[in-house]
Amino acid sequence: MNIHATESNEIVEADNNLKAREERYAEAMAELGKCRILELLPLAAYTGPSKGVLLDMMSGTGFVSDYLGEPFETVHAIDKMAEPLPKKSGISHYSKCDAAQPEVGNLIISKYDRVITLAGLHHLLPENYSQFDKNKVIEYRIDCLSKWRHLIKDGGRIVVGDVPARGQAIQHEKFQGLPNLDDFNNIASEHSRLSPMPFQLISESNPEPAIFFEEFVTNESIMPHIAFFESENSLSNLLQRAGYTNIKTGIHFTPWYFKNSNEAAWFIHTLFSIGTKQYNAPDLMPPDFIKWILDAVERYLGYCNTDDEGFWIGWKLLYASAENKI
Ligand SMILES: C[S@@+](CC[C@H](N)C(=O)[O-])C[C@H]1O[C@@H](n2cnc3c(N)ncnc32)[C@H](O)[C@@H]1O
Repeated sequence: MNIHATESNEIVEADNNLKAREERYAEAMAELGKCRILELLPLAAYTGPSKGVLLDMMSGTGFVSDYLGEPFETVHAIDKMAEPLPKKSGISHYSKCDAAQPEVGNLIISKYDRVITLAGLHHLLPENYSQFDKNKVIEYRIDCLSKWRHLIKDGGRIVVGDVPARGQAIQHEKFQGLPNLDDFNNIASEHSRLSPMPFQLISESNPEPAIFFEEFVTNESIMPHIAFFESENSLSNLLQRAGYTNIKTGIHFTPWYFKNSNEAAWFIHTLFSIGTKQYNAPDLMPPDFIKWILDAVERYLGYCNTDDEGFWIGWKLLYASAENKI
């Protein structure tokens, strides 16, 4: 057997799978990304009154910029994907680069008012990452966060939203009703279109997205989901060691909303590249495939139907904001 040929075949297959996964992620977000709108409420609250220049770090398809970019004069983005952005996005400058090395990313502004990063931090891992080498991950992330701090103006802020490590309890009391959305009309109007969040989901749900990734997505996606999730304390420590001050954190309930359960199953299938075959629309998925996905959703995240046949999936995120005070 030609070992080198086998190895290079494997590399080509991994590259193809990565490209397919990026394309599917973008397709899911383009079709139904608004289901994640509640993730943006705490992000807007932690971002606070805003103007000036925003850097959307690990921007993906520009979900953060589309909504939170509204009050800023200029919005820039960094991601390692090539050309991920839909034309309508308000991003005026995009750098395709490793978020760990923004200094090589040809950024045309040196200091930002806000750096916001959503659902990206758990992917920031050193090369040859091993889950047993936690200290290496910690040092690597401190270095990244410190580089990002140098991109922030004096008195400006970083705002992080990410999947928390397993077992972090939601702090419902930290968010009573809507935060001040004066600056963010797009989020406010989208939010007002949602049907009321079912009380049952709020009171009973204990979603565990980290376990969902570790036990389901990793095994059933076309590519393993390689990630390391932070707790509220560990994220706070990272930010402190990276030189930030005035650090605030919280774990917030951010369920996803769909018109019906088929849409929800299709979003999960497409966003995370679950299953080897790709179905291009909810109605094309076989009933047993839908059931299999919804069973996993029920096991790890929880779900709930509402009277108008809307369908909610449990989700929670860890948030932090911190200041660069020179
Ligand atoms: C889960 S997506 C989140 C995208 C977007 N912020 C959102 O919330 O929809 C994670 C993004 O991080 C990007 N990413 C992962 N590792 C990266 C790295 N080292 N440098 C830059 N981008 C990275 C991926 O390409 C992907 O677009």
